[in-house]
Amino acid sequence: FQKKNKEYACSTDMAARRDCGFLGITDQQCRDRNCCWDSTENKLNAPFCFIQQHSCQGYQVKNAQETANGLNLDLELLGGCARFGKDIARLTVNVDFETESRVRVKITDKDSQRYEVPKEALPSTESTIRRVEKRGYEFKYAKSPFTFSIKRISDGEVLFDSAVAGMDSLVFEDEYLEISTVVPADANIYGLGEVVSAFRRDPGNTRQTMWARDAPTPVDQNLYGSHPFHLEMRKGAAHGVFLRNSNGMDVILTPKKVTYKAIGGILDFTVFVGPKPEEVINQYTEVIGRPHMPPAWALGWHQSRYGYKNIDAVEATVQRYKKEGLPLDGMWIDIDYMDRFYDFTYDEARFPQARMKALADNLASFNQSMILIIDPGIPIAPGYEPYDSGMRDDVFIKTLEGKPIEGRVWPGQTYFPDFLNTKETWAYWERQLKKTRDDIGANVYPWIDMNEPSNFCNGPCTKDGATASGLDSASEKQLFAKRDVAAAAAPTSFKYSINNAGRQAPLDEKTLATNAVHRNGMRLTDTHNLYGHMESAATHDALLNLDPNTRPFILTRSSFPGTGAFAAHWTGDNWSQWEHLKYSISGVLSFGLFGIPFTGADICGFNGNAQEELCLRWHQLGALYPFARNHNDIKGTDQEPYVWPNSVLPAAKKALQIRYSLLPYFYSLFEQAHKTGKPVWQPLFFQYPQDAQALKIDSQFLLGDGVLVSPSLAAGEVQVKAYFPGNGRWFDLWTHQVVMEAGASDRYAFLKANAQSDSIPMSLAGGHMVPIQKPGLTVAETRASPVSLIIALDESGVAKGEMFAHITFALTAGQNLVSNVTSAIQAEQLKAGLGGNHGDKVEKIVVMGLNFGKAASAEPKNVRVSKRAAPQQRGARHGGDAYKDIAHLSKGHVTVSN
Ligand code: GLC
Repeated sequence: FQKKNKEYACSTDMAARRDCGFLGITDQQCRDRNCCWDSTENKLNAPFCFIQQHSCQGYQVKNAQETANGLNLDLELLGGCARFGKDIARLTVNVDFETESRVRVKITDKDSQRYEVPKEALPSTESTIRRVEKRGYEFKYAKSPFTFSIKRISDGEVLFDSAVAGMDSLVFEDEYLEISTVVPADANIYGLGEVVSAFRRDPGNTRQTMWARDAPTPVDQNLYGSHPFHLEMRKGAAHGVFLRNSNGMDVILTPKKVTYKAIGGILDFTVFVGPKPEEVINQYTEVIGRPHMPPAWALGWHQSRYGYKNIDAVEATVQRYKKEGLPLDGMWIDIDYMDRFYDFTYDEARFPQARMKALADNLASFNQSMILIIDPGIPIAPGYEPYDSGMRDDVFIKTLEGKPIEGRVWPGQTYFPDFLNTKETWAYWERQLKKTRDDIGANVYPWIDMNEPSNFCNGPCTKDGATASGLDSASEKQLFAKRDVAAAAAPTSFKYSINNAGRQAPLDEKTLATNAVHRNGMRLTDTHNLYGHMESAATHDALLNLDPNTRPFILTRSSFPGTGAFAAHWTGDNWSQWEHLKYSISGVLSFGLFGIPFTGADICGFNGNAQEELCLRWHQLGALYPFARNHNDIKGTDQEPYVWPNSVLPAAKKALQIRYSLLPYFYSLFEQAHKTGKPVWQPLFFQYPQDAQALKIDSQFLLGDGVLVSPSLAAGEVQVKAYFPGNGRWFDLWTHQVVMEAGASDRYAFLKANAQSDSIPMSLAGGHMVPIQKPGLTVAETRASPVSLIIALDESGVAKGEMFAHITFALTAGQNLVSNVTSAIQAEQLKAGLGGNHGDKVEKIVVMGLNFGKAASAEPKNVRVSKRAAPQQRGARHGGDAYKDIAHLSKGHVTVSN
């Protein structure tokens, strides 16, 4: 082999290594086999004894046809390489210029239909196609072997290029697809998930596997959701790449290239030209579906734990929150409430239905909500309505032999609703969810967990709950016989092993055996990664049907591109450890890129016992998560904020007051996300794409465009070394002091973060505006209070901001009117124009940074505040009921208040 293929023989490309040895093979044994040996430790777990995969010749273009909006190419195999099966002889390539900023390249078998991500999973794409003459990109291809590239016209940057030196141009086999694209050395790549890792992905030999998996958040392994999307920053400009494929895959980052290796489906790329980072996400969420607009209450604080012993314990928690003056909007109950962990039932001894209802009613009277967990597994129990009607309506996923596929979860043996069946299963699911609403109340919302789907067995499960490997030989034989029958049509193992669980674990490890089919004929092998996404869609649809006037709230663990249109997400079973506090920032930032901005991590950590200082810091940071919930494992010691009355309690109280003060800001950011996809938390480079330093920072983030948050993330850290991106000036959001001067050459500053007295450092960039309200104990209470504006002028005396007024619980379109709040200083006059037809009362306006261009003590001689867009015309006194003239003028600040 080495002789025949000299140039590939022992090159060091790790993405191209094929295992040639066995566990424990020695150098000599390896060489005896005529294979290459390189025992340098590597992050990819690439084999030490290997052959370089032989080069496949790829395909040539046989026929090319321009269409009105793109190109159609016919490809023919140049020579089979049979890397992991038979090569597909003829392919078609459809290039579709979908909009001015996105192009789709779809490569599939010309002669037979292959599995594709179904339209029901991503319903928005078609309707957002906008044919235009002028496009921001150019598509080119080479004929033999076929490769293609996509160039951004404005700057000539090649964003995708499948002609990668030393890599195969294109491998297209039934169960193995491979293609690579060129990236610069040390590329700045973000996204690809779900994973616990640094936000900026390590471009030197790392791998992201996509295979939905329930695991207690190990670092750098595949997890609950699958997101084959990344954003890359190159020379200050951003672009995005989305591979529309739900099959298992590895995405491998090796120096100068990204390689995709999928075990099924098709190669269906959409490339987004940006060039601003937020434009990439705008373009991406247009394809996959915009994030939903959450109901206002859900932006408040949530308290949860696994292991509340009974309804008294939950009631006591609600009461204690009140007593301590801690805000609370959502009270959560885990599987503890169920009878034997059966969905839609109540443990009458510990959580009697009547008491549950009474609590929900009580919460409702304070405009609070109750959230109940629902797992997808339906126990196999004749006489139990969800089982009986599920069997009657044939809504469960089945084996090839036509029997519902069995797994084992909390309640024991279970069947799994087939959420790809949008008719019978969705109707069934709605009827089930309606029960909870009827039983407990309208203010009850679902938390959908275990939807990878998680299984306590590895694949097939028997009644005694043993895993396949733990069976006696007779039943094992029976099981494997079954599997063999199925294997003909639905493989459970593949010649190419994706790096499941970081060790190429079998695909059915802790999930359902994949030799199962949906009612529509699709195989679970192909759709595994869609399960939680389709459950989210079904649940969202059900809630809307049950109450068309109220925005649904759903929390899901597993996700796929587009899930943000339906549900919020939490990062799963994290740990009460400092590094998980830090990882939560990358988690939230990554899900912002994935179109699921409504994300948070379990505050104080799920696994393990939270320690006082960590829990204090976690409340400070967590209070600013887009989705803010304290949640704990049944084994963990209590971690509600009042568990530490002299430390965590006062700090959490302050942090929560900050969150509730920022309610109009959060609300506006969510509206923005809903309209354009713009993440609620942004990485620093989103607003400062030219700032090279910002590309690597994931210990700080921007809340909206203008607020820089610099949390304390380590024990004993009472000063945070904060980086201030860009060149402008920054102010402390609360003390209004300048924390970074414009033009300062050293952009680092130490910010005070005393655990007890101070809150988390927050800084406002010159040029931005933040609306706040008086924090109440609920969102409803808060939103009734007048609004104040905190405005930081930039060096030229200008600031802009937006606020969505009429914070509403209703879904009705048109109620969320935009109020543009801009202020501009000309000469010595401050004009704060409150545009739009909003109904909020403005109590106070704080303006920072008036000393522009003049002596530091310069003060405006004239301050006018107007309700209308044209402030000169209508002074505050005449502008209506809500505004009054200047009450207070101080050095460098203007405060206008009632
Ligand atoms: C899973 C969830 C966790 C929940 C537990 C019990 O581990 O991730 O949040 O508390 O199940 O339902």
